Amino acid sequence: MKRIVTVLPALLVCFFSMTAGAQPIQIPVLTSANALVLQVDSVKNVSVIYFGPKLTNSNEYALVNQTYRQTEDYTNVLDAAYPVAGSRNLLEPALAVKHADGNQSLDLRFVRQEITKTSPDVTLYSIYLKDPVYNFEVLLNYRAYFRQDLIEQWTVIRHHEKGNVQLEKYASANIYLKGGPFYLNQYHGDWAKEMQPEESRITHGIHTLDSKLGTRANLFQPPVFMVSVGKPATEDEGTVLYGALGYSGNFRTDLELDFRDNLKIISGINNYASAYSLKPGEEFETPVLIYLLSSKGKGHASRQMHDWARQYKILDGKGSRLTLLNNWEATYFDFNEDKLKGLLRDTKELGVDLFLLDDGWFANKYPRNNDRTGLGDWEENKTKLPNGIATLVKEATNNQVKFGIWVEPEMVSPKSELYEKHPDWVVKQPAREEHYFRNQLVLDLSNVKVQDFVFGIIDSLFTRNPALAYIKWDCNAVIYNAHSVKLANQSHFYIEYVRGLYNVLKRIRAKYPVVPMMLCSGGGGRVDYAALQYFTEYWPSDNTDPLERIFMQWEYSYFYPAVASANHVTDWGKQPIKYRVDVAMMGKPGFDIVVKHLSENDLRFCKEAITMFRSYNGIVWQGDQYRLADPRLSPVASVLYLAKDKSAGVIFNYLVNNRYGQGSTVPIQLKGLDDKANYRLEEINLYPGTSAALDSTKIYSGEFLMKVGFNPVVNNSRTSVVLKITQVR
Ligand code: GLA
Repeated sequence: MKRIVTVLPALLVCFFSMTAGAQPIQIPVLTSANALVLQVDSVKNVSVIYFGPKLTNSNEYALVNQTYRQTEDYTNVLDAAYPVAGSRNLLEPALAVKHADGNQSLDLRFVRQEITKTSPDVTLYSIYLKDPVYNFEVLLNYRAYFRQDLIEQWTVIRHHEKGNVQLEKYASANIYLKGGPFYLNQYHGDWAKEMQPEESRITHGIHTLDSKLGTRANLFQPPVFMVSVGKPATEDEGTVLYGALGYSGNFRTDLELDFRDNLKIISGINNYASAYSLKPGEEFETPVLIYLLSSKGKGHASRQMHDWARQYKILDGKGSRLTLLNNWEATYFDFNEDKLKGLLRDTKELGVDLFLLDDGWFANKYPRNNDRTGLGDWEENKTKLPNGIATLVKEATNNQVKFGIWVEPEMVSPKSELYEKHPDWVVKQPAREEHYFRNQLVLDLSNVKVQDFVFGIIDSLFTRNPALAYIKWDCNAVIYNAHSVKLANQSHFYIEYVRGLYNVLKRIRAKYPVVPMMLCSGGGGRVDYAALQYFTEYWPSDNTDPLERIFMQWEYSYFYPAVASANHVTDWGKQPIKYRVDVAMMGKPGFDIVVKHLSENDLRFCKEAITMFRSYNGIVWQGDQYRLADPRLSPVASVLYLAKDKSAGVIFNYLVNNRYGQGSTVPIQLKGLDDKANYRLEEINLYPGTSAALDSTKIYSGEFLMKVGFNPVVNNSRTSVVLKITQVR
């Protein structure tokens, strides 16, 4: 048990004297495998006393701390559930404020707790904290998803002081872990190089992952990470914590290994240039930090996260997705109605569900014929589309395919009518020269009028074309020269931008709840679990070279399920069409190629693969994913998607190393099967004229396939091999 604080000011001692000697209260936040145990001590400090596998005897949580013999905690708040600044804390705080009277100290003590079961599987633990000196309160929320072992943590901050309180740092959550060493798996990237992993042992001090891009969380660093405890976790072994901040703007995650070797992970909105002035009575609600602890390695953690995301987070996560033909890389800006009508026929010929019209269909005064003009002027370009979108939507229906459209509604070209009419709607510094990212600027979504305008773009597309079936929502610029002419307090800008974005998305979803929308950002620079509440899928990267995609999709798959991954077949890379199509099918496939340029066999292959995909897409989208062979560790990458009832699955295998003699020389062990059942392996997605290397009449036990394995016969003449595995009854 913690020592009673002896350095408290007289007022506090008095305040708490009534409760001195009270028994500590424990608040166990429980999931099926784990317990996160909070404790309220006799002076009402709330600390974390345990986070790990659940104990059978809950009385034993109280014994955990005595098993540690670390150096002294001089502050008595090292293990605080939500560390604050300015009083006893000597390390990184989650919350730092300047009170209305200018005082910068904060102390939070327990007031009460509420436990609400919102569904059989979901429980909300709400812990009310208050500063004994200032009229300042924080509500700590832990929403526990029992089956998936996942917790969403966030806070609500409010006060009733005599003036505004400045929030200097206002993290969503603090996770406190004991028993290292700890290993951080983080990601970095750039355009076309998203999700590059790096693993390192966490050293003492603070390591920060953050973003200051304004419009999105990710480009250089995504808001997801993993921390392994004890040793780096592998696919099937080790203790690993997955973290993901559900926020679409600037974020900041501080990982601090303290002088006693314990780890604090403090994550939330980035306070960079963003001190927030909170009015009396106003509530500041932070985004959620999503985290999940697995003591069975990364594979289990992913499957839990995928289940959670599909059930609770991603829009229509349990649903299916539309396959499509996109014209971006086939035409770029160079098209007209006739060309598009031809592509609509190609869409039907290929056998995909939808044609997606990309960038370039709009603007008249400054036609969108390249990426320098026209963004913001969302009327059809009369030269390219004299009869408007409506004719194309009708033509699509005649071809029995659906029609979708690209928009980039938060952006504006300097050369556009929108910029001319509303220069005050543009994010820029009034007295500084403009600086462009992909030749464009960002609209000021903190302005309600701009929110109405952005909502109006989507609304008018749907009002005019009710049959419109899909939106690709792009975001190709970051914010430079952050400034809003509308905002009185510029340090609210980044926060208000994201609030404005969510306001628009909420309005769109209130009116159009189900239409699929892709979250795109010149690469996967915008995927996060807050945005995915409004989107059915995301664009992992503009880099569609299938070899690169194997690595990227592998990394994304730790955090996001395949149903949300938009994978397009393009002309990037040197691999044959089969390889490109097979890689795209580990998610939601699309095509961005000139169908007419395909050879007869290539086209036949694509059509057959799409038809075949219909027979197993439910397994890829809704099944369990097992990463079998890691492309970073072996010349062959192998990924299994297995139906929940283990009756069938699909295994994708690729050669990822072209050096002499590389291939699947040794068997790959399957995972997740029923060891007592029998299975048959059959090669699918065969290129016309080639034959299977595996004998599909052979029967193997689940035990054999998991203990010995299978060989997909991947080599330099069979670089991509897809196998269907079916239980034989
Ligand atoms: C971004 C997207 C591409 C395409 C272009 C259009 O780069 O990632 O897929 O839509 O914009 O300008």
